[in-house]
Amino acid sequence: MHLSASEEVLPIVVIGHVDHGKSTLIGRLLFDTGSVPEGKAEELARAAAAEGVPFEHAFLLDSLLEEQAQNVTIDTTEIRFRTERRRYAIIDAPGHKEFLKNMLSGAARAQAAILVVDAREGVREQTRRHAMLLPILGIRHILAAVNKMDLVDYSKDRYQEIADALAALFAELGLPEPISLPLSAREGENVVKPSAKMPWFAGGALLEALDSVPSPSRLDALPLRFVVQDVYRRDADRLVAGRLETGTLRVGEELLFWPGRKRARLRAFAEWPPESTPQQASAGRSTALILDEEIFVERGMIASSLDHGPIEAREFPAKIFWLGPDPLRIGEAYELRLMTQSVGARITEVDRVIDAETLSVRDSFRPGVEANEIAEVLVHTQRPLAFDNASEIAQTGRFILARDGRILGGGIVLGARYPRASLPPVHQSSPLFWTEGEIDRSERARSLGHRGAILWFTGLSGAGKSTLAIQLEARLFRRGIWAYVIDGDNLRHGLSSDLGFSAQDRRENIRRAAEAARVLADAGLVAIVALISPFRADRRKAREIAEAAGIPFREIFVHAPLEVCRARDPKALYARAERGEIPEFTGVDSPYEVPENAELELPTHQLSPAECLERLTKLAQAAIALPNRPSLREDPAANI
Ligand code: ADX
Repeated sequence: MHLSASEEVLPIVVIGHVDHGKSTLIGRLLFDTGSVPEGKAEELARAAAAEGVPFEHAFLLDSLLEEQAQNVTIDTTEIRFRTERRRYAIIDAPGHKEFLKNMLSGAARAQAAILVVDAREGVREQTRRHAMLLPILGIRHILAAVNKMDLVDYSKDRYQEIADALAALFAELGLPEPISLPLSAREGENVVKPSAKMPWFAGGALLEALDSVPSPSRLDALPLRFVVQDVYRRDADRLVAGRLETGTLRVGEELLFWPGRKRARLRAFAEWPPESTPQQASAGRSTALILDEEIFVERGMIASSLDHGPIEAREFPAKIFWLGPDPLRIGEAYELRLMTQSVGARITEVDRVIDAETLSVRDSFRPGVEANEIAEVLVHTQRPLAFDNASEIAQTGRFILARDGRILGGGIVLGARYPRASLPPVHQSSPLFWTEGEIDRSERARSLGHRGAILWFTGLSGAGKSTLAIQLEARLFRRGIWAYVIDGDNLRHGLSSDLGFSAQDRRENIRRAAEAARVLADAGLVAIVALISPFRADRRKAREIAEAAGIPFREIFVHAPLEVCRARDPKALYARAERGEIPEFTGVDSPYEVPENAELELPTHQLSPAECLERLTKLAQAAIALPNRPSLREDPAANI
């Protein structure tokens, strides 16, 4: 079944700087298209007259919104009006605080935007910010309504000035030029029909411009993307339920399911009642598929035709918009949702950060991205993800980042290379692959009862690192926590047996220890590393290795003054070093750089071993504790 033109609904948003006249414009659109419930306008006009205030079309909107608020079911406010060509749904109202979240999450999906600009004020911060956000929100068709023309005497020059500024802004942002038009929402000029007050404008009224926005049916022309929502059984059949986001799909067609490229043929659609089950479906249809083979398919997968599949990768460049409240941090774990896929993700690089208010590129170096900033980043996902470049297929090129059920930001996939062949390489940029196990870190953690972590002990020889590490390992292990010590001396018997004690060799030794610890922590263990690790830069590198993998890293400075270590000299090494038998001995003729950002400092010449152990245990337990709240995985719909 196809929607006829008159049944078609085009979702739009009305945005713009505060006070530039969004509400009045919406009120005017409703009023002049006869979309206001009978008597409503008169009732409000009477109420306004009784209070001696002029009737404003914005009142109309307010009152409609108020009525809708009585029975709010979802977080979007939808207001409808119609033209001869089709129906429109304004899917959000100005100032609606969930606007961005709804738009980012796809809970609300607009095809076009009316960007309202006050003719007196011109382009302002929010105008810029909204313009910048539009592509991230997946909106391509933009009408720039230069409003309040009555207040500038319907001046052609003033209009042209603003239209030029908008064109320049959009060019600067790399967006297609918007369709600009002058109007007065309050006076109803050039909203529904061309205005006699502005004979110089030949571009037509706002509604005509809206009616010329292409229909979403063009989505049929894009490559096929069927997004799997659920897989279940009905009698003997297994139904793959989901939504055809783009393209068309016919019974008998062969499909690939991504990630994983599982192949099957569409035997039939399954809909209810069976008589209405189609032979063919087009973009926008929610339906269920019956395949000819029981291949592995689950929620999150995207089906394509054989010859034009999505990209499958674990890394891609993206442009994101960050909502906050906390800054986005490099290396931190977030949940990435793209259509129905949900995977663990981190940002591994932040290339360019733009302040969305001012559009200035941030020059000072701050790690991460703050609220309201737009950034170009590199996204790394825990498992392979199927997606498209947003510029090619917006639907499958947009994602959100969330944590604990809260949406923190959203983004679009930028310029990841599009596969030409039907079976593209999994990883586009590097010949190295990363093999992902079936058991992920959270499943291990749930089974073990704790997360993995790296506890990094640094300090002079004789400070007490090994002793404390071994005691901590024993205590944790006996409490049911899987802990394992990587000790410098031991490491140098095997993995690092080729290394000496030059600064360069120490750096490599520390890198190896950090990588080995990362593997253990990834497996769910508490890796206790005891290395002198005398140089700050090397320790920082170790921390980065952990954090890039999303593993908690705690630096513990096991500290005793050099004289104390020398006096202890458990391996009689200081004595030998001073006799010149051991070159480059730390503390004798090789430096030790005291940590500046250790999470814990243990002065072993002042604290008893029991006290040190107590503090270490506390630190370890806090680092590996499982979160109490139910994870997102269990409740993907929480709080959207
Ligand atoms: S690190 O600098 O690369 O972190 P690591 O902790 O692995 O050192 O090894 C230190 C151990 O190696 C010491 O405990 C000591 O037993 C032995 N050692 C041998 N030569 C040296 C040296 N020149 N400096 C420090 N430790 C040495």
